[in-house]
Amino acid sequence: MSLLCCRAGATRAAQVLDGLAARVAPALRDCGIQAVQVKSLNRRGAEYAEKDNGFLCVLCASAVRFFVLHVDTLVKCRDFIFYHPHEVGKNRMNPLDQIVTQAIADFAAAPDAAALENAKALYLGKSGQITEQMKSLGKLAPDERKVQGAVINVAKEKIENALTARREALANAQMEARLNAEAIDVTLPGRGRGMGGIHPVMRTWQRVEEIFRSIGFDVADGPEIENDWTNFTALNSPENHPARSMQDTFYVEGNDTSGKPLLLRTHTSPMQVRYARMNKPPIKVIAPGRTYRVDSDATHSPMFHQVEGLWIAEDISFADLKGVYLNFVKAFFETDDLQVRFRPSYFPFTEPSAEIDIAFGSGPLKGRWLEISGSGQVHPSVIKNMGLDPEQYIGFAFGSGLERLTMLRYGVSDLRLFYEGDLRFLKQFN
Ligand code: PHE
Repeated sequence: MSLLCCRAGATRAAQVLDGLAARVAPALRDCGIQAVQVKSLNRRGAEYAEKDNGFLCVLCASAVRFFVLHVDTLVKCRDFIFYHPHEVGKNRMNPLDQIVTQAIADFAAAPDAAALENAKALYLGKSGQITEQMKSLGKLAPDERKVQGAVINVAKEKIENALTARREALANAQMEARLNAEAIDVTLPGRGRGMGGIHPVMRTWQRVEEIFRSIGFDVADGPEIENDWTNFTALNSPENHPARSMQDTFYVEGNDTSGKPLLLRTHTSPMQVRYARMNKPPIKVIAPGRTYRVDSDATHSPMFHQVEGLWIAEDISFADLKGVYLNFVKAFFETDDLQVRFRPSYFPFTEPSAEIDIAFGSGPLKGRWLEISGSGQVHPSVIKNMGLDPEQYIGFAFGSGLERLTMLRYGVSDLRLFYEGDLRFLKQFN
């Protein structure tokens, strides 16, 4: 802050004022006023001061202290403390006013809370200006101390109020900025929810259930984490069967009660045993679900779906298998124009065993034999493991891949498309 000091008027001796100005300078510096200029000033001093945007003051010849008053003509000046010759002596200049003005200016200039607290320390801190003023009270006479103490308190209160106001203003500004930054543009059109759809493999699953329910089959569900006995041993699979190797099967942490490692079921066939052990014959069930093998190419996925079929009673023959399966594929593919053939094969849990192939009578796949399911008459050892007497009970089982059925129905050539989550592909089925 700079201070423009001017002489009181032509009536005062210049040298007296010059001397005073020199004596006043240290006091001004105490008030934070650096530059002290002494100038002659006439009635037009107001205009001068206004141009300079500085303080206009008049030194009082009779006192070392100086005095201030506000002058109407200088109201427009940014800093309007004015020393007027006629008022000299009436208003005692209070350096506290300047401290307050400066404090308010400093607070206003503080760009953030940290800067504001630093500015506060200059005034209200341990050796802040107001604190120093308080300390200086001790030097005054009791009467004067009382008066000056009250004046300091008023100044202090003004500074505190300004500080609080500025703190609030900064906090509000910060909040405002945050609200603006995080604002939600409610005028933006919504994205819409989009319509979900049933995955093509799930559609097949649903269709298969529907068709088999319609001919009296129950639908069962079983665990995807299986034990060795149910997935292999109970199904008559020999110890050296490749499915039991680490290369073909996902083993998981943890062992079953016999100490054998748990695994992700490699087929839905364990459901034959699980269901038969919990239900009395006649047993007529399908068990669709997820299955897992260490396998991945255009026609194999490590996770895939199968549907197991099982019909056990006292007289269920291979002819029943043929009738049921032919009826199923005709219903599933919605055509009578297809042929089914049973090709001899081998599964440990069926005897005899067969692969079921189908051939369409028309369409792009016309005349090609396509493998679609494993099947066979349930092996007597498996019937025994179901807790049933193989002399009394007999029946068939089949296991078909749901992906395979889906690919044939919709003409999809790469099974991986089902699991890439590409909506352009998946949307076509809805
Ligand atoms: N579980 C056999 C497989 O996954 C299929 C099958 C099921 C074969 C039932 C015969 C009877 O290949």
